[in-house]
Amino acid sequence: MNKKIYIETYGCQMNVADSETVISIMKTKDFIPESNIENTDIVILNTCSVRDNAEQKIWNRLDFLKGLKKRKKGLKVGIIGCMAQRIGNELLEHEAVDFVAGPDSYRYLPDLVNETDIELKTYKTDFDTTETYSGIEPLKNEGEISGFIPITRGCNNFCSYCIVPYTRGRERSRSIHDILNEVKILKENNYKEITLLGQNVNSYSYDDNGKIYNFPDLIKSVAEEAPEIRVRFTTSHPKDISDDLIYVIAGTKNICNHIHLPVQSGSNKVLELMNRKYTREWYLERIETIKRVIPGCGLSSDIFCGFSGETEEDFQQTLDLMEKVRYDSAFMFKYSVRPGTFAAKNLADDVPENIKVERLSKMIDLQNKISKKKNKEEIGKTLEVLVEGHSKRSKEMLFGRTEHNKVVVFPKKDAKKGDFVMVKITEAGSATLKGEIVS
Ligand code: 5AD
Ligand code: SF4
Repeated sequence: MNKKIYIETYGCQMNVADSETVISIMKTKDFIPESNIENTDIVILNTCSVRDNAEQKIWNRLDFLKGLKKRKKGLKVGIIGCMAQRIGNELLEHEAVDFVAGPDSYRYLPDLVNETDIELKTYKTDFDTTETYSGIEPLKNEGEISGFIPITRGCNNFCSYCIVPYTRGRERSRSIHDILNEVKILKENNYKEITLLGQNVNSYSYDDNGKIYNFPDLIKSVAEEAPEIRVRFTTSHPKDISDDLIYVIAGTKNICNHIHLPVQSGSNKVLELMNRKYTREWYLERIETIKRVIPGCGLSSDIFCGFSGETEEDFQQTLDLMEKVRYDSAFMFKYSVRPGTFAAKNLADDVPENIKVERLSKMIDLQNKISKKKNKEEIGKTLEVLVEGHSKRSKEMLFGRTEHNKVVVFPKKDAKKGDFVMVKITEAGSATLKGEIVS
């Protein structure tokens, strides 16, 4: 009998894309995707290690799964993703866990699952620096309009606080031919939006028999392959964002004018301790260039407070930078020590928890104010919106995104998921815009 497999995905968009890769791989070995955890034979958790609270969620989930296994004899549970790589051994000791596979081992998952029938527990967490999942067909979900395409895997930057280089291994770029082939498949399946994914997309580099393709070459080719499709990308490292890329975005209609450019901190001292390899001045110059070459470009960031040695003055520099840039939105966190990183080994976690909490809340308040102000500037404009679905609050309302990545809610009229509609903005809050479709 074909076994049913249910996947729960935690963490970043790379994990979302990886879960699709996993389902594709499992389907080739006759496993069947299942969306209800109560009906499945196998549960897989695709996990994140970026902060401690992400890992805590998984431990809690495992306690729930321990109970579920008591009710459902024969149910198997597996852990994949960053936690599997980081603490696979520890996870295997948990009563609920039957198998563990790291991010470079997904091709072995069907075997690992089958082997749990004869062995008690199975695992594979070897790094394979050549693994790019070439030849695995991307999953096309019926009715879906937006897809992710990984272009690089892993990271070589070793920011001192970050666990990713240890869980996802060295950076490698996927073949431009594989990527363009996936674009073609998504296009044939009526997708309307593609997001190119990598820990640092700007360092994409693929050697095709002596011809080197870098990220601006790649994104231009993707945009030309699918001129009717919106193209997005994430994440860009500020040290590597080139003028070339900025001009390609400005000059290519279907590449969305939105750049996610995580700054992490506004203080040069902290940036240096973080090993980010740029200064606040460099960052602000990049932002100025983006604003000059791509007027109105949507800007977002990742920022965190409370890193080792961050004084009140350093923190004020972060707030000051946020005011200078005026991000449309930002993901904000407080520092969480990750065992094994340079910072964990060499830099004291010396900002008290209550100060971290206080700083985080100041950051969030400031960003909300800026977002709200910037969103209010959109009132009266008519913007193109890609409809993503029904609004959570009402079936009569739809929501979608502008090319600048702002969420817009509006009465549905005749529009449906996947349509591009022109919406006149009438109201704005810190997180969403409201408007009306105009013909
Ligand atoms: N503590 C807090 N935030 C972190 N990030 C990465 N590592 C840590 C950590 N140890 C944040 C960074 C990164 C985002 C994905 O998560 O801002 O850009
Ligand atoms: Fe982590 Fe830095 Fe790599 Fe991003 S660029 S994944 S923050 S090490």
